[in-house]
Amino acid sequence: MSLKHYLQFTDLTADEYAYLFDRAALIKKKFKAYEKHQPLADRTLAMIFEKASTRTRVSFEAGMYQLGGSVVHLTTGDSQLGRAEPIEDSARVISRMVDLVMIRTYEQTKIARFAEYSRVPVINGLTNEFHPCQIMADIFTFIEHRGSIRGKTVAWVGDGNNMANTWLQAAELLGFTVHVSTPGGYEVNQAVAGVKSDCYQVFKDPMQACAGADLVTTDVWTSMGYEAENEARKKAFADWCVDADMMRAAKPDALFMHCLPAHRGEEVEAEVIDGPQSVVWDEAENRLHVQKALMEYLLLGRL
Ligand code: CP
Ligand code: NVA
Repeated sequence: MSLKHYLQFTDLTADEYAYLFDRAALIKKKFKAYEKHQPLADRTLAMIFEKASTRTRVSFEAGMYQLGGSVVHLTTGDSQLGRAEPIEDSARVISRMVDLVMIRTYEQTKIARFAEYSRVPVINGLTNEFHPCQIMADIFTFIEHRGSIRGKTVAWVGDGNNMANTWLQAAELLGFTVHVSTPGGYEVNQAVAGVKSDCYQVFKDPMQACAGADLVTTDVWTSMGYEAENEARKKAFADWCVDADMMRAAKPDALFMHCLPAHRGEEVEAEVIDGPQSVVWDEAENRLHVQKALMEYLLLGRL
């Protein structure tokens, strides 16, 4: 297996995603049946967190143990990363001792630099620009509930952030459309996502973005690393709260997703996230299954 990193959604092809979604479904079925699936026995994953996490930590850590491997957990505060050891040196050292690395950090350039000097595959566990593992789980969840996402419409309501950028990349690669509605000043940046414009449309009014959508999705108003902007963002985003009216504007069988953690009464009303169209708990659980498929694929290829 040649060295393959997963730093952004576009690092895999549509064909590879089709394989991974099938594989994740199989791995999930075995997990539910308490059937052992341990192709990564004796392999080690290093997880580096420079930002907080619940889902990413638990899903990668539990997932790697379930695959038969083990995990090393590092944070900025308890490693030399926080004492200015160069990222290139950290990459060279860590990747001599483990088989796989997952990183959650700030700038995408940081993870790209790490990958450049790593002997082993590197997975993006969230950067300021992208969150590919989450979108992989979201699309797998959509497929479980509604079948193929090709030709469908996803409404993105809120910040033009790492999740939004990754949705755009996924739309272009897998053939669906994203209706994006953000407050002025918080638009998606097409250059960051690196997509052509026809995979997404921009709407000033979030209600219009939701009209006819198969999936309505949102995220926190203030992502990690942007906390100093919190008060300004609360004012700017006041009209970008996914409520029952927005869900009614979408298709009658539209799903609601949120990568979590969520703030009820800010980016989403409780009646939506806790309502019948919400699949957020499946979405969170599926992080485990798709990432197990991903780790297996990066280390062993197609099985
Ligand atoms: N959705 C997600 O990545 O959650 P955590 O920040 O808890 O990992
Ligand atoms: N956009 C959010 C996602 C958290 C999982 C953030 O970056 O903080």
